[in-house]
Amino acid sequence: MEQKKFYITTPIYYPSDKLHIGHSYCTVATDTMARYKRLRGYDVMFLTGTDEHGQKIERIAKGQGVTPKAYTDKVVEGIKELWKTLHISYDKFIRTTDDYHIKTVQYIFKRLYDQGDIYKSTYEGWYCTPCESFFTQHQLVDGKCPDCGREVEKVKEESYFFRLSKYQDRIIKHMEENPEFLQPNTRQNEMINNFLKPGLEDLAVSRTSFTWGIPVEFDPGHIVYVWIDALSNYISALGYGSGDDSLFQKYWPADVHVVGKEIVRFHSIIWPAMLMALDLPLPKQIFGHGWLVINGGKMSKSVGNVVDPNVLVEKYGVDAIRYFLLREIAFGQDGNFSNEALIQRINSDLANDLGNLVSRTVGMIESYFAGTLPEDRSATEYDADLVQTAKTAVSKVEEAMEKMMFSDALTELWNLIRRTNKYIDETQPWILIKEEQNRPVLANALYHVAESIRIISILLQPFMPNTPQLIYKQLHIEEGELTAWESAKQWGKLPKTLSVEKAKAIFPRIDIKKELKQLEEAIQASQANAIANQKENKQEPPKALEEITIDDFCKVQLKVGEVIASEKVAKSKKLLKNQVKIGDEVRVIFSGISQWYTPEEMVGKKVVVAYNLKPRKMMGEMSYGMILAADDGAERLSLLTVDKGDMPSGADIS
Ligand code: MSP
Repeated sequence: MEQKKFYITTPIYYPSDKLHIGHSYCTVATDTMARYKRLRGYDVMFLTGTDEHGQKIERIAKGQGVTPKAYTDKVVEGIKELWKTLHISYDKFIRTTDDYHIKTVQYIFKRLYDQGDIYKSTYEGWYCTPCESFFTQHQLVDGKCPDCGREVEKVKEESYFFRLSKYQDRIIKHMEENPEFLQPNTRQNEMINNFLKPGLEDLAVSRTSFTWGIPVEFDPGHIVYVWIDALSNYISALGYGSGDDSLFQKYWPADVHVVGKEIVRFHSIIWPAMLMALDLPLPKQIFGHGWLVINGGKMSKSVGNVVDPNVLVEKYGVDAIRYFLLREIAFGQDGNFSNEALIQRINSDLANDLGNLVSRTVGMIESYFAGTLPEDRSATEYDADLVQTAKTAVSKVEEAMEKMMFSDALTELWNLIRRTNKYIDETQPWILIKEEQNRPVLANALYHVAESIRIISILLQPFMPNTPQLIYKQLHIEEGELTAWESAKQWGKLPKTLSVEKAKAIFPRIDIKKELKQLEEAIQASQANAIANQKENKQEPPKALEEITIDDFCKVQLKVGEVIASEKVAKSKKLLKNQVKIGDEVRVIFSGISQWYTPEEMVGKKVVVAYNLKPRKMMGEMSYGMILAADDGAERLSLLTVDKGDMPSGADIS
């Protein structure tokens, strides 16, 4: 029988800075799925890589006084190093600066042009460079990028356009007929209702105002829009459009593109339209995962908010970090990263539940039976339930993995770990050892625990690249038949006269207080390093605005306001509608802060309000004033509040 194929991809990363733990999250999840499918006997193609063209990269390189390619060469090395550290088992790493990719993109562009799917016109609108995204005036929110909230630039240039609008109905139909296509389901509704049904506009797919990109072969003043370039990687990596497309024939269509939620739109609308135009089958699934956030705020490369995966791995080991990412956060939803939560997980799940189970089992076999179990056995009343729990765990883990529900899979696995610990408590080996006649019961009990540990280790393999091997070693299990995935379904594969060998604890317990302090210091040191590097890289200092007089300043009337109610604005990603009490009056003030504050967090806050600001219409309603916030220009935002909580609302700020 022909081996089943599985093609899985991560997004290709912008080498715009050091990757943080949020980027690692996506790649670790994809890697886990790839490992799982390999263990299930699939012929897996796991693709990752870097997205190296575009205005953003060009600007960074310029700021550093190097060519874009010299810049990306350096950063890509670091990315590859990080994937090594995290044991990312990719089969292919694509760089969009690779020759074969450039050729395929040029081929695709030309073909779409020749067949009339790409045409020349003029683009006039807005561009968000960090997102490398075009927007029309009405798509902007408060004049800023609707995706990331940052400043956009006005663009007017001659451009080639892709007939995206032509494919709108086919895409809607495809989504409606294939509910599995875009997961989780809520993302599908979002795409259909917010983007597809209101109508797609043709997409500008070339730029002329900068040069760092793939040249349009037949019109050299133009370079290919970076998203057309980037999305094509999924097929160029397989040789599509080249002399040898055997990998493409073998693996396409992809089984799943794993992507973050903010780029679902590109993958579920633009990419399918491109494939339809090329007359190619669509990927079977796009899975849009959530973001890893820190204290509710989006993680970013902006200094002060980065968690360096290298620091974390060095401290706790790759398996603990991978476990935390996959267990703590339901894939598809946002999840919070905190050092405290990480250490708690390590202590409770890894050191206590799993580590202890292994060390006390091996320890008991060593001390009660000098390291080798005898053949004589006698069953206990608890055996059947343990065996049944193990069987159920395997099928539940498989079920969850098929849906990429990593956290659920780990929860099922930990149920088995906890059940096994409970079995030890029920059978009480330390009591059994006291009577010679109990030795067959004792041997049986320890065998059951060891066998359960074997099954647990097999199920751990997709998630943890190191731990299963450490356990196998202690139980003298040779990798092969006894560690194959299918053998997790067969109870009793361990040799009856099992022998063991104690080793050091696989997950030592951590002193949480001491550790948190050290960790903060390590992270700060790594951030200080980043700042030093930035300085070294001679980035331009921010420009100061024109000076104003005290009279100018006094024109602005600032007052203390108390937020008494707050709600999300249905059609906006950014806005909260707040009821703010200022003295005796209550005003409606809209604020573009919902990425950083929930309505619940807002209520009760004493904020600073620009009081005499001309009211303006936002999302069809008037907003009376503005709530002030500090913005680091990248991804962090913090509200201005008054230091003393008893300062009454309505108080003047001067
Ligand atoms: N270059 C594009 C992707 C092109 S794919 C054809 C891009 N690159 S990126 O480097 O900005 O982001 C890569 C991935 O990292 C995205 O899927 C994004 O969602 C993910 N993440 C970035 N920060 C993240 C978190 N804080 N949490 C989870 N994922 C995060 O977009």
